[in-house]
Amino acid sequence: MANELKPNIFSVGAIDWDRRLFDELIPLPDGTSYNSYLIKGSEKTALLDAVDPTKTHVLLDNLVKAGTQKIDYIVAHHAEQDHSGAIPEVLLLYPDAKVVTNAKCKSMLMDLLHIDEGKFITIEDGGKLSLGDKTLQFVFIPWVHWPETLATYIPEDKILFPCDFFGSHLATSSLFVDNEPAVLQAAKRYYAEIMMPFRAAIKNNLKKIAELKIEMIAPSHGPVYPKPQLIIDAYKDWASDDVKNEVVVAYVSMHGSVRTMVEHFVIALSERGIKVKQFNLTGVDIGELAMALVDAATVVIGAPTTLVGAHPSAAYAAMLTNALRPKARFASIIGSFGWSGKMVEQLTGLMGNLKVEILEPVISKGMPKDEDYVALDNLADKIAAKHKETGLI
Ligand code: FEO
Repeated sequence: MANELKPNIFSVGAIDWDRRLFDELIPLPDGTSYNSYLIKGSEKTALLDAVDPTKTHVLLDNLVKAGTQKIDYIVAHHAEQDHSGAIPEVLLLYPDAKVVTNAKCKSMLMDLLHIDEGKFITIEDGGKLSLGDKTLQFVFIPWVHWPETLATYIPEDKILFPCDFFGSHLATSSLFVDNEPAVLQAAKRYYAEIMMPFRAAIKNNLKKIAELKIEMIAPSHGPVYPKPQLIIDAYKDWASDDVKNEVVVAYVSMHGSVRTMVEHFVIALSERGIKVKQFNLTGVDIGELAMALVDAATVVIGAPTTLVGAHPSAAYAAMLTNALRPKARFASIIGSFGWSGKMVEQLTGLMGNLKVEILEPVISKGMPKDEDYVALDNLADKIAAKHKETGLI
């Protein structure tokens, strides 16, 4: 069958071609999917995750089309509603099914979806559940990106179901990855927006799954990886401590002073052999900005002073960067003011989570003058020297 990953393992989830925003925050230029998998063992049947509540009808239709007479277990890998939201409806259609998950996820599902406690089977890390000729082996993978997340491994088929981990927001009618660069781009965007703050946990979880013999990874968003090393290697790179010879310059300009400074500064960096990714924060796709932050050694925020503080768009970028906690080593601020203000203190205060060395900011009074251009050149020199010390140039 077209939706069969391995013998008696079926994809029964939903593709959301039209969704353009997740969490009312994250842009989804390519839509997404909520993957759900039906595992038919010789004795028992399990459903791994459900779908977003808006797509419940698709999941239920797919279960009926797959001739599903009964479901014994609904494995909930993650309590977030894009995977768990349809579980109550599945339980109505298959009232004998038990929800299988860990204690933390169970508690969250009771809070979020009001599922009755009697419906749960609670499992431990490394626990197993037999479906007859297939075994569900549970691997806890906390903090990708919630604390309760777990994965299921089926040793007979050497397939890992890691939920959000390794996922991509990508709507496609292809069950398997058929365009590796496009999927890796979507997966990097997903990593940047959702996984990056949890780099340390991700490294631990990568070590944990390295103990398994994995021939296929079936995440809960985006296509299935028939060559799992592709995404495992990409995650190792993204989550590593290695930075690249890149500077992210994210700026906003009201009357041209900051834009003029950014234009000069970006050329100065390029002339020193540094790759620059420049973002005008007005109307920026924050997914693109987040992706650039995955690798960059240095982040520079450009902001005018507005009502004695940083322009709100620059404050938002600083706050977002702080929340995403990229591995950047250096940061600075360039900007302008008219008469007074505390823009620099405000922006550096908003980036307190970052383990960066703050390089001397360059702030111009009004349109930049000769001494401001010299200061921008000096900042570019300083960044080049720091990148050189770090072995990037
Ligand atoms: Fe796809 Fe964290 O939910």
